[in-house]
Amino acid sequence: WSEFQNRMYYYGTFPTDFLWGVTSSAYQIEGGWNAGGKGPSIWDTFTHTPGNGIPENGNGDVACDSYNKVDVDLGLIKTLGYYRFSISWSRVLPDGTTAHVNEPGLKYYENLIDKLLQAGIEPQVTLYHWDLPQGLENMGGWQNVIMVEYFTQYADLMFSRLGPKVKRWITFNEPYIVANLGYGYGNFAPGVSNDPGVIPYVVAHHLIKSHAEAWHLYNDKYRAAQGGQISITLNADWAEPRNPYKQEDIDATYRYVEFFLGWFAHPIYIGDYSEIMKTTIRERSLAAGLPKSRLPEFTPEEVQRINGTHDYFGLNHYTTKLIFPIDYGLQQNYDADRGVGAVDDWSWLDSGSSWLKVTPFGIRRLLNHIKNTYGNPQILITENGVSEKGPVDLNDVVRQHYYNSYINEVLKARVLDGADVRGYTAWSLMDNFEWAEGYSERFGLYFVNRSDPKLTRTPKVSVQTFSTIIRCNGFVD
Ligand code: NOJ
Repeated sequence: WSEFQNRMYYYGTFPTDFLWGVTSSAYQIEGGWNAGGKGPSIWDTFTHTPGNGIPENGNGDVACDSYNKVDVDLGLIKTLGYYRFSISWSRVLPDGTTAHVNEPGLKYYENLIDKLLQAGIEPQVTLYHWDLPQGLENMGGWQNVIMVEYFTQYADLMFSRLGPKVKRWITFNEPYIVANLGYGYGNFAPGVSNDPGVIPYVVAHHLIKSHAEAWHLYNDKYRAAQGGQISITLNADWAEPRNPYKQEDIDATYRYVEFFLGWFAHPIYIGDYSEIMKTTIRERSLAAGLPKSRLPEFTPEEVQRINGTHDYFGLNHYTTKLIFPIDYGLQQNYDADRGVGAVDDWSWLDSGSSWLKVTPFGIRRLLNHIKNTYGNPQILITENGVSEKGPVDLNDVVRQHYYNSYINEVLKARVLDGADVRGYTAWSLMDNFEWAEGYSERFGLYFVNRSDPKLTRTPKVSVQTFSTIIRCNGFVD
């Protein structure tokens, strides 16, 4: 795999209007889980349920206490560009519906946005970063098509109240994770498991429709007055065939990418689910004696309504996998439908997360894939970063290397390959609640000292690395 290990740096700069930023999400940093009238979310319920396997029974009750530390956090963001954060739906609508609007919750975000703007930091707002109000989960959550209406009503309220000051919106963060980990494997909230090969597809179907409706709402009702942009953030690994000379491995790699990024990108950027998903799932369903495909269908009107609901391509990317086929026989679930296995190359540098190896070449290839497959859209990298675990070392050499090498590959994609990358966001501003891994994996540019009741934030050396890249707008010799 040495052919991918391009260690050559390209010296050059990004266009002058290139956007730089850092990001976080509500449940992972805010705390204040029941403060100021907030209702419970599925992550509150999930982390408060014993036996969910989170290290040290970690939860987001306090997290980084950003609910009470807006001013402290502002100081950290100053040299790091814009700030992408998410809204806790149940903080503003405690039971998820507009029947009761929690004004103190809205105030929290209004205040945060005002202070960001005063400090010259652009706010970018994600509407859904996984913390569904528990009240809505009680109705079936994303399995219930009624969520499309509830999500649109929530989005409407956010556009009308915050929209005058927010110029960039993201509807959903990583719907793939919601569908598969939340409602398939069940290791994320709401913890629906034993995927019978139906639920994650239904959930994804409803997420895609919800995104499209929110996009149309913004487009029809708010765009003219507010002039912002709205899109969805999709996550994807890059993938290469384990054996590049073996057709089965090449085919499996294609399935891996189409079932991952393509699941959501195809309906939104091209129209409808991709042929490979439709055919594979239909054939496997019928072979098992089911009357029809387990993949829900969009009507022709829905295909049309969903297609084109983007203002840019929001991308979260971390790592690359080597892919080979696995035959699961008649087993009916997402993994069996996709029918692949994934391995890492022995030479790839480790991070603090088992799924994340340092593979800078992959981001350039993925950006080129998006350019070539989805009509050369404007791309905003909404997350990219690396974790460490174990003893604290503020000289975070892996992260310094990660940002230098990945961003350099982004520069190559933009300058040499012509991928229309418009911005780059680092995950994450500070160490925070890493979902099922609790606080054991640390993605922050800032270290958060959890043994100090004040949860002090200290810069890791990578803060310098990243702010230097921002200041130079790239890499200068
Ligand atoms: C993606 C998610 O959006 C974010 O919440 C998570 O912490 C990072 N990846 C790292 O796993």
